[in-house]
Order: sequence, then C-alpha cells, then structure tokens
Amino acid sequence: MKLSVIGTGYVGLVAGVCFAEAGNHVTCVDIDAAKVESLQNGKLTIFEPGLEHLFERNLRQQRLTFSTDLQTAVRASEVIFLALPTPAGEDGSADLSYVLSAAQDIAKALQQYMLIVIKSTVPVGTADKVREAMAAHATVEFDVASNPEFLREGGAVEDFMKPERVVIGIESPRAEKILRELYRPFVLSGNPILAMDRRSAELTKYACNVMLALRISFMNEVAALCDKCGADVDHVRLGMGLDSRIGKRFLFSGIGYGGSCFPKDVRALVQSGEEFGAPQQLGNIAHQVNDAQKKVLVQKVFSHFDNDLKGRHFALWGLAFKPGTDDMREAPSLVIIEELLQRGATVSAYDPEAMGTAKVLLGDTISWAQNAYEACENADALLIATEWNSFREPDWKVLKQTLKNPVVFDGRNIYSPDVVREQGFTYYSIGRPVVEEPRA
Ligand SMILES: NC(=O)c1ccc[n+]([C@@H]2O[C@H](COP(=O)([O-])OP(=O)(O)OC[C@H]3O[C@@H](n4cnc5c(N)ncnc54)[C@H](O)[C@@H]3O)[C@@H](O)[C@H]2O)c1
Repeated sequence: MKLSVIGTGYVGLVAGVCFAEAGNHVTCVDIDAAKVESLQNGKLTIFEPGLEHLFERNLRQQRLTFSTDLQTAVRASEVIFLALPTPAGEDGSADLSYVLSAAQDIAKALQQYMLIVIKSTVPVGTADKVREAMAAHATVEFDVASNPEFLREGGAVEDFMKPERVVIGIESPRAEKILRELYRPFVLSGNPILAMDRRSAELTKYACNVMLALRISFMNEVAALCDKCGADVDHVRLGMGLDSRIGKRFLFSGIGYGGSCFPKDVRALVQSGEEFGAPQQLGNIAHQVNDAQKKVLVQKVFSHFDNDLKGRHFALWGLAFKPGTDDMREAPSLVIIEELLQRGATVSAYDPEAMGTAKVLLGDTISWAQNAYEACENADALLIATEWNSFREPDWKVLKQTLKNPVVFDGRNIYSPDVVREQGFTYYSIGRPVVEEPRA
C-alpha cells in the first residue's frame, strides 16, 4: 500500500520505517525541514534500538521517502497516518491544534477516497472533531479511524513489529478492511487486531497509560512507607508480583515516571473526566505522587549533607527519562538537576545516548562528561537517574578512587545493597534500607 505518515518523531518515524519494512511505500512528512533533510540523507534523528538497520534498508530499497510537502504526499497515498504531537496545554488537556490543522490541510489536498488514521494519543471524541474539521474542506469521501500506538521507547521497533494487540477504532467496514490488511503482517503469530468504535479505542490508550502510571505511583508510595518503617520495597515487590492477579511488571519504585506519554496522558484523562462529568480522581493522585517523587532523591542528598549543598559537586549518571532512548521529555533528571543547582551545588553528567538532547535543554548550566567515570571526578557523591545497563556493573575500585566520598544515591535501585556494602560505599536507594559506609 502507499502510505503517508504525518509527523516524523518517535512514533511517526518508527511507524513509517516498520510499515515500509512490511513492503509498503511510505512517505514520512514533517514540517521540520532540517529533520527531513537529515533523514533523506540517511541520518537518523532519534536513537531507538534496531531502527537504524531497518531505516537504511528501506531507504536503499526506495520504500521509504521523506518530505515536507504534505499535499504531494497526500495525493500519492491510500492511507494517511497522523503521528503529530498532542502536548499538554496549560490546564493539562491535550493540545489538538497540530492534529486539527494537519487534518484541514489534508482535507484540502484530497482528490479521492482516503482513510485518515489518528495514531497520536488523543482524548475521547477527537476522531469526531477531526471528521468535522475535514468535512468543511473535503470534496471527496473519507474515513477517520483511531489507531492508538502502544510502543515503548527503547523497544519501539520490537513493539511495532510484534504488537501484543492492535487496537483500531473504526466507523466503516471499508476502514476496518484496510487497517486489517495493513496490520496483517505484524500479527501473523496470532495476536489480535481489536476492532471497536473510535471512542473506545481513544479511551483504551489513556486507560492503559494511567493504569501503568498508577502502578508506579502506588509503588513509590509503598517505597516511602518502607523508608520510614524499615521494610525493603524489593521484598514487597517480589511478594506482590508473584501473585498472578497482580503480575510482576511496572512494580518498580524509583524517582518517578517521565517521558512524553505518562505525564501528559494522565493529565489529559483527568481533563476528559472533567469534560464529561466523570472525575478521574486516581489519575490526579498518580500525577501528584509522581511530581513529589521526582524530588525524593535530592531530599536524601540534602539530608546526608546536613541540609547544605552550597559548593558541593555531584556526578549524575543518566539523563534520558528511561534507558534505551535519547528522549529527555519530562525526564526526572531535569528536576534533580534543577533542585541541586537551586541549592547551590554543581553537577557533572553523563548519559550514553541523551547528551545531545539534554544539552539543548540544559546548555552550560552543568558540565558534560565524556564518560561515566569522568563525571565522578571531584564529586561529593554519585546520583543515578537512569538505569542504563552500562551503569549496572561499575568498576567499584575506580569509582571509589574517583569520587571524593564513596557515596551513591541510586534513584533506580540498580545495585544490590550487599555488593555496595562489600565495596565500602554509603548507599541510598528508594524504599530500601540505607547502607552505611563501614567506619574504620
Ligand atoms: N513517544 C512515544 O513513546 C509515544 C508512544 C505512543 C504514542 N505517542 C503519541 O504519539 C504522538 C507523537 O508523539 P512523538 O513522541 O512521536 O512526538 P514527536 O514530538 O517526537 O514527533 C512529532 C513530529 O511531528 C512534527 N510536526 C509537528 N507539526 C507538524 C505538521 N503540521 N506537519 C508535519 N509534521 C509536524 C514535529 O516536527 C515532530 O517531528 C503523540 O500524541 C504521543 O502522545 C507517543
């Protein structure tokens, strides 16, 4: 099939590349001319494991092209996917201006029947709004479908190529038929394509993200109780996760969730609840707990250093909101850095993939290390904000020699307290007992 994907960011680029890999001819459209030029020249604009290989192959085999020209792309397509941003507005509701304005431009360009598929995460009722916005300009028949995307950054290619399920919200058998055909190669192993009405599809995406956010916030509250009462959240987590009614995933405590999805989607569901008169109180609570959680690690640092961080210098390992991505949107590391700087400390940071995106946001407010150990030079302590695999087995001897004090504040609970104790470090983590440095 001939497809256009409008918006070539984390979702659009992955979707475009994967649809091309399945044999479709895909044009990825973006308004960012520099991004399009880079992609046309074979240079990826995001880091995502496994993407480069597929991107290069499909570019070479001419199934994948990039353009800023929406009209030409639309006219050459049979299906158009919208993978545009839906950021949180002032009141937390999703800003639909990107989606609605692109929909109008598409409507003006249409010359034949078209299926427009909303892949962006959008509040209940958006497909109706898109149809309305297009109807004022379109002179041909069209369908608007909802097809929320469930990929996880850091595992996006795998998730897209082998989805656990594909959710399609459709308003006509014609749209259903096209989408089933398009997704057939991705569900050969038997995972289902769930067809439903568009409102249910839109809501499914938010319900998933808020449920996951709630699990994280719940475990962070349990961890805070562990910190106070002397229990160990790792034991609690294992004891809970082996209950098949609960399951093991998304039970890790830490420094809160970030990224482009959970924070804004939780707030958007709360707003939808307001709009429809069905308050989503749990979403509100997940959001509040998460905001507070981002500050927990620095509170531990503050209290360790007798409530005075002026003139202190800290190493920070990890900037990306999670491992496997260079995405810095709503990363807890940003709150940690802000809190440290506000208290008069300085920071030297290292991240295996996100230094470029982080530099755009942070400039020269912190210093940038070439590697993990360089970040630790002259540092009063090490803080860990992202659980990259490369941080999991550090050279403890080098670390001890490099840091001014053998103190680690681990916001992701990546070390075994026993190992850290053996290595002679003071170790703070989230919801687990503090390991005190053995005194001579
Ligand atoms: N990132 C994720 O993991 C993820 C997962 C599932 C769903 N989503 C949802 O998918 C949507 C896109 O997210 P993203 O992370 O890919 O965003 P992104 O910001 O990485 O990408 C959006 C792209 O759209 C482009 N753009 C903006 N206006 C445009 C226009 N008028 N025409 C063409 N291009 C335009 C931007 O330049 C950018 O490249 C959001 O609704 C998000 O909530 C994201």
